[in-house]
Amino acid sequence: MKSVNAPSPYRFPDGFLWGAATSAYQIEGSPLADGAGPSIWHRFAHTPGLMRNGDTGDIACDHYRRFEADIELMKRLGLTAYRFSVSWSRVLPAGVGAVNPAGLGFYERLVDGLLRAGIEPMLTLYHWDLPAALDDRGGWLNPDIAGWFAEYALAVVRRLDDRVKLWATLNEPWVITDGGYLHGALAPGHRNRFEAPISSHNLLRAHGAAVQAYRACGRHQVGIVVNIEPKYPASDAPEDLAATRRAHAYMNAQYLDPVFLGHYPAEMTQIFGEAWPPWPASDFELIRQPIDFVGINYYTRSVTRFDPDAWPLQATRVKQPDAVYTETDWEVFPSGLTDTLTWVRDRYGPIPQYVTENGAAFPDPGTAGTAPLDDPSRVLYLREHLKAVHAAIGHGVDVRGYFAWSLLDNLEWSLGFSKRFGIVHVDFGTLQRTLKASGLSYAKVIESHGAALSDLA
Ligand code: BGC
Repeated sequence: MKSVNAPSPYRFPDGFLWGAATSAYQIEGSPLADGAGPSIWHRFAHTPGLMRNGDTGDIACDHYRRFEADIELMKRLGLTAYRFSVSWSRVLPAGVGAVNPAGLGFYERLVDGLLRAGIEPMLTLYHWDLPAALDDRGGWLNPDIAGWFAEYALAVVRRLDDRVKLWATLNEPWVITDGGYLHGALAPGHRNRFEAPISSHNLLRAHGAAVQAYRACGRHQVGIVVNIEPKYPASDAPEDLAATRRAHAYMNAQYLDPVFLGHYPAEMTQIFGEAWPPWPASDFELIRQPIDFVGINYYTRSVTRFDPDAWPLQATRVKQPDAVYTETDWEVFPSGLTDTLTWVRDRYGPIPQYVTENGAAFPDPGTAGTAPLDDPSRVLYLREHLKAVHAAIGHGVDVRGYFAWSLLDNLEWSLGFSKRFGIVHVDFGTLQRTLKASGLSYAKVIESHGAALSDLA
């Protein structure tokens, strides 16, 4: 039995950042305001038939015009950090060339507001919204994109590095390539086995070039954000074990191996066959720039088995009969987060890590009744995952912060507004914000520096 006076076992280290995360196209709205150029997501969302219910980011959460009120919400939650992304085509409407001062001005006002509220900004340079003008020149398939991205990074770093201390280059290069160039569900919507390796490689080269640019004029910390989904074999059969290794290499090691070790996992050639080109050795010198932290986005795991029909991995996920699944059909598996953080440390060394996204979509009502909105599944999801982070810290992993995905219900890419991940509810008719129970429970955890996690032990 728990003694009433026993200290909570869940206190987090001093200085641990308690955050929430968002991205530009998912929340801002007004995508063409004040001189911004269109992005590939603006174009994709306005192509009939590609978005669920025809939803677009034209208004989204209207954060572009309501960011001050959103900072007040963050203050109410007691957040000590906020992760957001900058829209490349607001800053450089054509992707390269003339800087749009109004675009940079928006992010400058956002950062100043955060700092006034005592909230540490973490800035992601690229969360999927490539300027459409650069897509017209081949987008991530054009090798010149490494230079374009470095030019953009310099424009933002020069303006904001005096106030932003945590910089991330890319958000989830795996999703950018797998969704955008291999399976086509995300912008720019290509399905091409030959394009996918090229897109991934250019993303990594662009990351390296942006880190170099950052070192030339930035004074703080720069890293990359990847999504990791640990893979567990469905059985000990050799074909399941091999399928699990391929799935792990493709999704988890494909980006971090080149960044930290200077080469791709051996499985990549098996997976892509003739579509996997021989890469010049000098590219890995560019890609393997020393970085200051790695951001981990964790949502679920996969129990994996061999499936000869699953292209191109020949591996598939096995549904777990007794597990809880979220509305996006992702298994709730908190200990996978401990495993992930520990695996990153074991494979790549004692680099500081942030959990840059973690959260869940569950069916909430579209219109909030009386505040706060009750979302017990999300309350539990966040608490159990925070405990999993605490367990990793207990194993000696240097985890410096946690960012719930997401601060606000928002545009879930091609699924539109049909999936709600927010700890704050957004009514997409009136744009009214209402705190959810998950937001309030996270606020208690923050206020107690983790101790309140034992309330649900
Ligand atoms: C992305 C977010 C997305 C979330 C939930 C992550 O892959 O970074 O933009 O909304 O997962 O699907």
